[in-house]
Amino acid sequence: MSTQKPTILSIAGTRAQKFFDDPRITQAQQLIREALADHQKDITSLTPAKSELKENYEQMIKELSAGRGGALYYNYIGSGFGRGPFVELCDGSLKYDFITGIGVHYFGHSHPDVIEAAVQGAIGNTVMQGHLQQNSNQNEMIQLLSEQVQKKGSAIKHVFLTSSGAMANENALKLAFQKRYPANRVLAFERSFSGRTLALSFITDKAAYREGLPQGLQVDYLPFYDVTNHEKSIKDATYALKKYIKRFPKQHACIFFEPIQGEGGSWEGNEEYFKALFTIAKENHISIISDEVQAFGRTQELFAFQYYNLAQYVDIVTIGKMSQVCATLFAEDHKPRPGLLSQTFTSSGVAINTGYKIIKSLVEDNFLGPKGKIQTLGDYFRVQLKKIESELPHLIQGPYGVGAMVAMTVFKGDAELNKKFSYRLFDLGVLTFTAGGDPTRVRFLMPIGAVEEKDIDEVCKIVKVALLSVSEK
Ligand SMILES: Cc1ncc(COP(=O)(O)O)c(C=O)c1O
Repeated sequence: MSTQKPTILSIAGTRAQKFFDDPRITQAQQLIREALADHQKDITSLTPAKSELKENYEQMIKELSAGRGGALYYNYIGSGFGRGPFVELCDGSLKYDFITGIGVHYFGHSHPDVIEAAVQGAIGNTVMQGHLQQNSNQNEMIQLLSEQVQKKGSAIKHVFLTSSGAMANENALKLAFQKRYPANRVLAFERSFSGRTLALSFITDKAAYREGLPQGLQVDYLPFYDVTNHEKSIKDATYALKKYIKRFPKQHACIFFEPIQGEGGSWEGNEEYFKALFTIAKENHISIISDEVQAFGRTQELFAFQYYNLAQYVDIVTIGKMSQVCATLFAEDHKPRPGLLSQTFTSSGVAINTGYKIIKSLVEDNFLGPKGKIQTLGDYFRVQLKKIESELPHLIQGPYGVGAMVAMTVFKGDAELNKKFSYRLFDLGVLTFTAGGDPTRVRFLMPIGAVEEKDIDEVCKIVKVALLSVSEK
């Protein structure tokens, strides 16, 4: 990330500019940088928990689990400090964060430029921005995203910011339904994940996530792309799509897809496959929504639909996670009528400022393209995992994924063993997460802006140890 001072956003001539540019603020930011560097100096490798903090930590875990009404997946409570891929927990341990809050902390932990942008956001007049009161940094973010999404010829240009990936997807659904009224069905994909609102629980293809919920949406599922069976994938999915359109004529408002299925286990899409489906969708006036809440910023292009050359097809795209503030981007012909979209919380000034800084860095620094960090670090990781697979083919298959989305199948996809494996990795100091159900996979979303090849090497050594130790039990 550039070491320049964060941009002061479109506020020339105001008191705000004078305040943000006040030498005392500049000095304070400099002091934070210096203190940060001093305290990060000795963070260079994994560190076990401190024995004197263990008892207190266990108590905190118990309290937090009881307080939130359910156990944590990992015994993880962060201290609020770290360095690059290393994150400190309240037991004093340092762990490798190779899941980053499932794709949020793109520049790792306590990155000086991210903190600087966050401080600038935090000294703004309010904590949150919302429907009647938007600040200038929102405009900067919207212009940046709008400019980037139009590259490669997309008609998408409007950007509606929001506070979560699920809200971005809800807003996308509403745009499509309003545009296609009275069509009231949705086409989605097997194994997909789109969020946890009532409506989205029925697009997400996982029974456990909608157990006990009243059916809010009529969804028809298409088989997702299978890289091992290209022709058949296209044939099966187009056949299913035509069948649904025939069964429910003019009733589908949209087709909702993840270009790369993240929660399902980093399953890659395919240009020819998507184009075959979307050509039929377009002919039948079905809006096309690309859910990139997880895939945004993880392929060679900023937007994953650009990576698959789908600019002519996609009407709406949603982003989240690494962008800190989430968004629904849409074409002019999907503009909502007044009243459809609004909210008390658009997001916090901190999220908007840091998100802007992160996306700007992706666009301006060496992240995108076939030789950019996203692709090269993802490829490097896959090569290292492939070496483990060639040594231990009975324990691991893969790796899979596109760009910086990396996953592998361990123990033939057995859900319980995968969970055990992820816990073993946690104990050994590596944060990952499981994904999908059939097969279950282990997934990595590493902090691309902070990770180096040597970190990947270390993590791979630990992956091997964890594989062997779980297989022995
Ligand atoms: C593809 C996709 N869509 C939507 C969501 C929901 O985002 P959020 O958890 O921010 O609501 C996620 C979250 O994992 C996701 O991966």
